[in-house]
Amino acid sequence: MTRKAILVARHIFPEVRERLAQHFDVEANQEPVDWPRDELIRRMQGKAGALVSSTEPLDAGLVAACPTLRALCSMAVGYNNIDVAACTASGIVVTNAPDVLTETTADFGFGLMMATARRIAEGERFLRSGRWQRWAYDMLVGADVHGATLGILGMGRIGQAIARRGALGFGMPVIYHNRSRLAPELEAPLAARWVSKVDLLRQADHLVIVVPYSSASHHAIGAPELALMKPSATLTNIARGGVVDDAALAQALAERRIAAAGLDVFEGEPQVHPALLDLPNVVLTPHIASATAATRLRMARLAADNLIAVLGGKPPLTPVHA
Ligand code: GLV
Repeated sequence: MTRKAILVARHIFPEVRERLAQHFDVEANQEPVDWPRDELIRRMQGKAGALVSSTEPLDAGLVAACPTLRALCSMAVGYNNIDVAACTASGIVVTNAPDVLTETTADFGFGLMMATARRIAEGERFLRSGRWQRWAYDMLVGADVHGATLGILGMGRIGQAIARRGALGFGMPVIYHNRSRLAPELEAPLAARWVSKVDLLRQADHLVIVVPYSSASHHAIGAPELALMKPSATLTNIARGGVVDDAALAQALAERRIAAAGLDVFEGEPQVHPALLDLPNVVLTPHIASATAATRLRMARLAADNLIAVLGGKPPLTPVHA
């Protein structure tokens, strides 16, 4: 039987490539570069499947140009870069990588929120630049995290893991807004309260955004929403660029209409809105919330396992539906 051909669109762990090579003819991106869209399409043509990430534009045009594709398996949990409806209509199974990154991503989200509230990055810049000359009672004072109200927009797996850290580790009252309310048995141990989006914005001391990106969540946080927040509040975005209107956020931060922000994701990344780069009260990280060695390996292995299952005629492990 001839082996199926697959594409590994990104430079990934050699052991995952080798595992795939036991099953398929593998063409793999061996360089730390993104293929331009035309080249990605050309390389995907004739392949039965592909291992991808959250950055390749896997749109309807690509799907139409690659009629042999049967599986697109992403090592990311977010899949807003994949036109799942177009894939489904063309008989392509789409999978993502949930669960394996939940705790790692929640650690980072909580850490970024703490760094933002306690001005850790700003303090480090201050020290390195030689400006630390003396103790002062008001030097780099920030906001407490323990006991403050934690607001979560998007209460999926990662949102709940952040809520656990806040409620159980830091004694934070937790409020959240989500399309659907959590089951009482999930809310109860965290004493988490569902509130309207307006109440979330008004009441949170530290707002963490974990809602997936879609046309419905585009600019879910823009100027009108920022205007509802407390001037002392912080905002942390580990979801996707585009959920927050970065220009409006930069303006709110510059005018101190909110105290500070922590951002791991950006509109148009790896570009970052230039106004954000000039502000002291924002902590900026390059989309690394899931980046621990163990978790990245788990994500890549899960994508590979999905590819092996689907192209072997078995059900996908973690399918995504339109
Ligand atoms: C990262 O952003 C992911 O969606 O896994």
